[in-house]
Amino acid sequence: MFDLNDTHRQLQETAREFSDKILMPDADRYDAAEEFPQEKIEKLADLGFMGILIPEEHGGLGLDNRALTCALEEIHRGCASTGVTVSVHNSLLSNPLIHFGSEEQRRAYLPKLAAGEWLGAYAITEPNHGSDAAGIQATCRREGDKYILNGTKAWITNGTYANVVITFATLDASLGSKGICAFVLESTFPGFKVGKKERKLGIRASDTVQLIYEDLEVPVENLIGEEGQGFKIAMHTLDGGRIGIATQGVGIAQACLDCAADYTATAVRGGKPLIKSQAMQFEIANMATEIEAARLLTLQAAWRKDQGLSHTLEASKAKLFSSEVANRAARSTVQILGHDGVRRGYPAERLVRDAKITEIYEGSSEVQRLVISRNTLNDRAERSAGTPATSEAQ
Ligand code: CAA
Repeated sequence: MFDLNDTHRQLQETAREFSDKILMPDADRYDAAEEFPQEKIEKLADLGFMGILIPEEHGGLGLDNRALTCALEEIHRGCASTGVTVSVHNSLLSNPLIHFGSEEQRRAYLPKLAAGEWLGAYAITEPNHGSDAAGIQATCRREGDKYILNGTKAWITNGTYANVVITFATLDASLGSKGICAFVLESTFPGFKVGKKERKLGIRASDTVQLIYEDLEVPVENLIGEEGQGFKIAMHTLDGGRIGIATQGVGIAQACLDCAADYTATAVRGGKPLIKSQAMQFEIANMATEIEAARLLTLQAAWRKDQGLSHTLEASKAKLFSSEVANRAARSTVQILGHDGVRRGYPAERLVRDAKITEIYEGSSEVQRLVISRNTLNDRAERSAGTPATSEAQ
């Protein structure tokens, strides 16, 4: 069972204060302008938040996944666009470099990432291959001391600003997951181009673009792991990333609860204080209970990762539940606020838009249900192996 120590709580406290004072007051303005929160990212880097998992020897805070979860929940609560920028950088870029990178790759990239001098992105999705990650079409072939990559990646968070990208390409698409290779590449490598910017329903201040590889030249030392190991690296990385998006769900849901509770405590409707309405009280009670359950599931998954235990199933459960809780909480908040809920400039309107993507990226809710059901049913299949099931009524 997970626990939180003093370091986790201190980091949470620092993030909470930052969120209240620096992120929340500007979140609506950044959203309306669809402006990348560069200034906020620089301030977070000064606090060490761009290198939470990176070992101290490489300039990071050297903390664990519970620490990342505690910090990220607060950042997401203040601004989900800033949150996803920081989440991708820590969990989808730094994390696989720490675990699968060579010593040279770690030394080359981790210090710059920890300092926030360089920003990271993770590029697996393609225009026609999102959920079916093993079906990616971007190609790689070795030529001397380089790999040459060709293809287009889509919906890449941080893509415009990223100096370093972990990406995936196949040696031979007919090999499926076994043909995929993982690379760490720099945006200055010849053949790397940033494509069209997406305009989105929510998390509008975050950067989402296509990346185009046209005979992109990647030095052979930038292959991560061995040829053909890329899919497992991608999936293992996403197990951690999904804890990050579960955390985003919790942060957004908590922001909704804060907004709905503050409103309920002060508003008067039909001459009666809203706080006296049992319907409102029960709605707030449901939200608070669901958010706590989502937070516990998320911290439990992070704790398992910290212990080196399998966490694929737990990360998927946490992401599925938290993202759905965030969407329920956001819809309830809009409903509680009534007209003020749909008014631009009020946080509820932004929160309901920001919540939706949590059910889609880093594996849609359908993908999470697939992972959960496979793991749950396979477990049973293994336990009951050799004991044929009977369907006859006795
Ligand atoms: N860890 C390590 N290895 C894993 C793994 C995991 N979690 N999951 C699967 N594998 C291994 C399997 O053991 C198997 O190995 P063998 O071949 O040796 O047996 C191999 O990978 C293939 O596994 P599957 O047959 O299960 O693979 P699949 O093709 O059926 O995968 C899927 C199905 C789970 C739906 C997968 O395609 C998936 O997760 N899709 C969603 C992709 C996704 O989440 N994209 C998000 C993009 S990033 C993003 O969104 C960032 C952002 O913007 C914020």
